[in-house]
Amino acid sequence: MKDITRRNFVKTSMVAPAVLLRKSEAAGAAFAAGTGGSTASSRNSSQKRKAKQIRIIGICCSPRKAKTTAASLRVCLEAAKEVHPSIEVELIELAGMKIDGSLAAGLPLEPGQRDDFPKLVPKLSDPVVAGIIVGTPVYFSSMTSLCKAFLDRCITFWENNMALSGKVAGVLAVGGSRNGGQEITIQSVQAALLCQEMIIVGSGRPAPRIGATVWNSGKGDVTEDEFGMATTRKLGRRVAEVALQLNGMGK
Ligand SMILES: Cc1cc2nc3c(=O)[nH]c(=O)nc-3n(C[C@H](O)[C@H](O)[C@H](O)COP(=O)(O)O)c2cc1C
Repeated sequence: MKDITRRNFVKTSMVAPAVLLRKSEAAGAAFAAGTGGSTASSRNSSQKRKAKQIRIIGICCSPRKAKTTAASLRVCLEAAKEVHPSIEVELIELAGMKIDGSLAAGLPLEPGQRDDFPKLVPKLSDPVVAGIIVGTPVYFSSMTSLCKAFLDRCITFWENNMALSGKVAGVLAVGGSRNGGQEITIQSVQAALLCQEMIIVGSGRPAPRIGATVWNSGKGDVTEDEFGMATTRKLGRRVAEVALQLNGMGK
C-alpha cells in the first residue's frame, strides 16, 4: 500500500486548485493547504509547534476599536488561556480594516480600493489555530455589518479547502440593553460558522447557554456586568476545553 504522507494527502484531498481562488486570497489559502509559501522546515516546525501549542483567536467585529466588545473578548480569551499552558490567545480587531462584503460575490477590487481581508486568511487557517471566538456588538438585534462582511468573505475557505473545518467556534454579543437581542445575534453568527463546518460551542458549565451575552450599561466598564462576564468566561473555557479535546490534549 502506498504510504500516506502529508504531501500525498494534501495532493489528493484538495477540493479546488489554488488557481480557482480569488487572486488576492490565493497566497493565504495556499498557505492553509500547506501547498505554497512554506518550506519543508517551516512545515516541520509548525507540526512540532502544533503538538505543544494551540491558539485561540478572538475576532472583534465592532467598528469601534478597544470598546466594549474588545474588552469582553479579552476576558473571554484570558479565561481560555487559563485552561491549559499550551493555549496561546490572540485578539484581532476588525475596526479600521477595510473588509468589503460585496467582494464575496466575486466582484473585482476597484482600482485603488484597499482590502484587508487577505491578510486574515493565513492567520485564521493556520493549523495551530484550534478555536475562534467571534465577538460582535448587537446592532438592531443582529450582528454589525462589519461582522457580516467578515463572515461573507470567509466564503474563500468554503470555496477552496474548508480551512476552518473542525476548528472550534464560540460567539459573544454585547448589547446596550440587558435583553437587546444578544441571543438571536449569536444564533445568526453561529449559522454562518456552521457553513464552515466549525464545531460550534456555547458557554459551558455551570448552567450552559448559547454563548456570551454581555450588557453594556453605558455607565462605565463593561467588565462590571457580572452576569455577562460569567457567560464570557464560561465561553472562553468551553472553547478551550473542546479545542484541547479535539487535539488529543483534553481530559
Ligand atoms: C446602529 C446601532 C444599533 C444598535 N442596536 C442595538 C440593539 O438592537 N440592541 C442592543 O442591546 N444594543 C444595540 N446597540 C448598542 C450596542 O450594541 C452597544 O453600545 C455595544 O456595546 C457597542 O459595542 P462596542 O462598544 O464594542 O462598539 C446598537 C448600537 C448601534 C450603533
